[in-house]
Amino acid sequence: MAFEIKYRDGMGRIGLLETPHGRVETPALMPVVNPKKPVIPVEELVKTYKSEIIITNSYIIYRDPELREEALKRGVHELLGFKGPIMTDSGAFQMYVYGDVQVEPLEIVRFQREMGSDIGVILDIFGNPYEEESVVRWWVEETVKRAQMAVAEKGNMLLACTVQGGRYPHLRAECARKLSELDADVYPIGGVVPLMENYKFRDLVEVIISSKLNLPPEKPVHLFGCGHPMIFAIAVLLGCDLFDSASYSKYAADDRVILPTRTVRLEELDYIPCSCPVCSKYDVKELKEMRREERFPLIARHNLFVSFEEIRRVKQAIKEGMLWELAEQRARAHPNLTAAFRVIGKYVDKMERYDPVIKKSAFFHLSCESLSRPEPYRYAKRLKERYKRPPDAKILLLLPDRGEKPYTVDYSSELSELKKALGDLFNHVHVAFLTIFGIVPIELEEIYPVQQSVIQKRFTSDELKYVEHRMLEYFSKNTYEHVLYLRGGVDFDDLVSRIAYRFLISMCDDVGDVADTIKRISQETTVRPRVFELEKLIAVADYQFGEGAGEALFMPADKIRWELSKQTGKIRFVYRDDELILTLVPTTGFFTLMPRAAKLLVRRLEYPRLRVVVNEDAEPFVKRGRSVFPKFIVDCDPEIRPEEEVIVVNENDDVLAVGRALLSGVEMKRFRRGVAVKVRRGVEKSKK
Ligand code: GUN
Ligand code: ZN
Repeated sequence: MAFEIKYRDGMGRIGLLETPHGRVETPALMPVVNPKKPVIPVEELVKTYKSEIIITNSYIIYRDPELREEALKRGVHELLGFKGPIMTDSGAFQMYVYGDVQVEPLEIVRFQREMGSDIGVILDIFGNPYEEESVVRWWVEETVKRAQMAVAEKGNMLLACTVQGGRYPHLRAECARKLSELDADVYPIGGVVPLMENYKFRDLVEVIISSKLNLPPEKPVHLFGCGHPMIFAIAVLLGCDLFDSASYSKYAADDRVILPTRTVRLEELDYIPCSCPVCSKYDVKELKEMRREERFPLIARHNLFVSFEEIRRVKQAIKEGMLWELAEQRARAHPNLTAAFRVIGKYVDKMERYDPVIKKSAFFHLSCESLSRPEPYRYAKRLKERYKRPPDAKILLLLPDRGEKPYTVDYSSELSELKKALGDLFNHVHVAFLTIFGIVPIELEEIYPVQQSVIQKRFTSDELKYVEHRMLEYFSKNTYEHVLYLRGGVDFDDLVSRIAYRFLISMCDDVGDVADTIKRISQETTVRPRVFELEKLIAVADYQFGEGAGEALFMPADKIRWELSKQTGKIRFVYRDDELILTLVPTTGFFTLMPRAAKLLVRRLEYPRLRVVVNEDAEPFVKRGRSVFPKFIVDCDPEIRPEEEVIVVNENDDVLAVGRALLSGVEMKRFRRGVAVKVRRGVEKSKK
């Protein structure tokens, strides 16, 4: 039984979970089916809602002599009339509500197995999440003990071991780490219903993150008792794969209507912004006038439609690379969610490990929280660690983002005017753009997400502070003899003039002003010629593969030649000794590697940088261009990110192939299923 990732964004993933009764695509919503009286018949859940998996409560079955006998005789699938995967809960929630259950922890696990449950849950313990720490710690210890014992009883059933720990992040982390050592199959995050019911979303986010970051990435995570669509996007973004909903009927029972961003009492509604089959058939007035028993199953159906719809919205967002944007929108649903979303920013360094380096969609700058996303974080980090300014460019000309891209096109008239005015002196100038991501050297203007972003021009003071920090960082590594700034960026003009004295920046009003200033300060007469294309190749290679990559690939420069795209005039192919070594992908601004380039990089970059090491068994297949599966991986660079260009080598560090990573380095060594590296080209194929 195993889990594999198909698509991903943030820490969210579209995955496949294999169970004894078939596969489930995640993120999945499991409707809770009451074994005594289902609100919505199971056939309808299958036909109308396309439920792939449902969840029921084994304790309710266990406690009812008739149901129990039938479940043991015919199995839970027959009992409920459902052929697909069934998850069963253990009675932990009843324990929480009533303070006691009439079953032993191991007995209920055995019972779940005996009635043929696909995913059974341990009898975990939780209570008020704000209970004193020492009490919560005791619950955690007992839960872990029960999990350890339950593993021996699981048989063919997948076992779900619940992370508890109240509102205490360190207890969650500890519980998650201990449970990770066990042979469990699913990791629910439990005890969160009270947090959700009370809109304690900040605590909820802390709980999810501290659990998730300490759980094995190759196992699915279930957010227990979370059936409200308003938090699906955020929870999936943070790595949750499974949800269960009793909410659809619980809310309906007291006339509460679920909407994607909130819950409303029916009596407060005059219009329902919904076109589900229920709302298409009845208007609010008709619903209000109905008898309660007639209305309840209708509202339950509406509630479930809305919940499934949000799951589909989340999945589509993952495929488009827009999950952060969706979560950021959902974070506006309630002030507590906005605050919760801000908490995520604290963990950006850890989340960045799982976030793809390129996405199908542009980066949308929607709010000041957008800058806490992995994309800006990664840009700043790589620029700081991997970028050095061209050695001969001693004067920095900083041009503010005016809202149009590509920047060089937006500034084409200014730049050609300046070249004309300066002649050879232009070779002293390094052009860079001031953007919301910080300083973007001209060589890097096309890389994701700089070029592939949609950013408005007016900024908050927090955002300007972010830019100021990035400038500080840039200048602490890259120094110039002079820095000039050309006004024209509204908010950026104010920022730069405020800090001009610190970095000795000359403020210029127009191109004439820039040219005059440069002429005045350029005393040197000897000007060394520069090859701007080569500077770009080096900068992109260093940024993408690590410092030193550019030198390894493109030096000595007389071996290198490049071909421009006939359509765009931009560099498209790079040759070394007339052999194609790299392609510059116009949509992402990054290189794809050919085996020759991989060999140059492997010689230069210290092991295990960029490598995925496979064993002997895989070698002949990978060499011929077949994809790399995790089970053949013996080692890899832990710094690899999803969607990165990587090099597949054998244990002697001989290059076998080049390709695109689908997993991050930390995941590659742990997953059992799916593709780890989509190989683009093996060395054998490329020889012909
Ligand atoms: N249902 C809602 N929350 C929980 C939980 O924490 N544990 C279990 N087993 N079931 C739940
Ligand atoms: Zn509806």
